[in-house]
Amino acid sequence: MKDQAAKLRLLAKKMNINPEEPRVMQAKKRIRVITIASGKGGVGKSNIAVNLAIGLTRLKKNVVLLDADLGLANIDIILGIMPQYNLSHVISGEKTVKEIVCNGPQGLNVIAGGSGMHKLANLSDSELDSLVKELNSLEEYGDYLLVDTGAGLSQIVLSFILAAEEVILVCTDEPTSITDTYGTIKTIRQHGYEDKINIIVNRVKNNEEARDVYNKLQYASKKFLNCCSLEYLGAVREDNQVGQAVRNQKPLIIGAPHSKAGQDIYRIAMDLSNSRGPSNLSKARRFFNKFADYFRQV
Ligand SMILES: Nc1ncnc2c1ncn2[C@@H]1O[C@H](COP(=O)(O)OP(=O)(O)OP(=O)(O)O)[C@@H](O)[C@H]1O
Ligand SMILES: [Mg+2]
Repeated sequence: MKDQAAKLRLLAKKMNINPEEPRVMQAKKRIRVITIASGKGGVGKSNIAVNLAIGLTRLKKNVVLLDADLGLANIDIILGIMPQYNLSHVISGEKTVKEIVCNGPQGLNVIAGGSGMHKLANLSDSELDSLVKELNSLEEYGDYLLVDTGAGLSQIVLSFILAAEEVILVCTDEPTSITDTYGTIKTIRQHGYEDKINIIVNRVKNNEEARDVYNKLQYASKKFLNCCSLEYLGAVREDNQVGQAVRNQKPLIIGAPHSKAGQDIYRIAMDLSNSRGPSNLSKARRFFNKFADYFRQV
């Protein structure tokens, strides 16, 4: 008996499990949190976030998509859903986070931001703490948490970026978008962000054009910011089916999976799901706690 207990302890040690911990704690999964942001607005973040999220669910991942756009939350419109509740109901204490998670297509979990995000700015310390406690329960939802942010680097956007271990910056080939993306990299580095920065170049003719944009960003980031953590995640081609999908309120990857942009985003979803993600993958709990800390600081 004694021998068997010792064996179990050894096995638990190998698997990095504390045998004294309750089972429910052991069952908790780590969640890969990816914040999607940009320098200049209107570059395609929300469309990429929505279709990437559905792409990942197709790859059998459990995904939560959080609409963190302060001003013009529009994920629900792109998805063609009408969430009854949003974060403001959690902030006011009317609902729990679990009660506001809404079912999107193909098993996607969606949290609508709406006016809730606006209210975040006026929360007292204790209100922010209880919101964070609530958001921590998202940990049970699974593999990925994608956070779609609004245009520009507001306090909220910056905090969501700094708290995540992975960020995707969406950029186009317009010079203003490239300089704004560089500006964003500079600001987040100045705030101490040292993790991976993935770049998606949207609305391009082809992969070469996107690579060219990435190379410019990489060169400037290395030379002036000593930042070597930029990674090319892929190109999404200019495609009028994107606008059509929004007008139909049917996500591109569902309504037009063979469209150029649909294929590109699905390929990026596959690459993401095949990559290991950060080695120090944290629990949602850590993400939201970090978010609150940065939110108070910046
Ligand atoms: N690959 C693409 N091809 C053609 N049009 C696109 C493409 N990607 C995005 N668009 C169009 O660009 C516009 C802005 O897209 P979207 O709302 O996703 O940008 P955003 O970065 O989320 O904007 P905001 O900063 O306001 O949140 C939309 O009209 C969308 O249809
Ligand atoms: Mg948007």
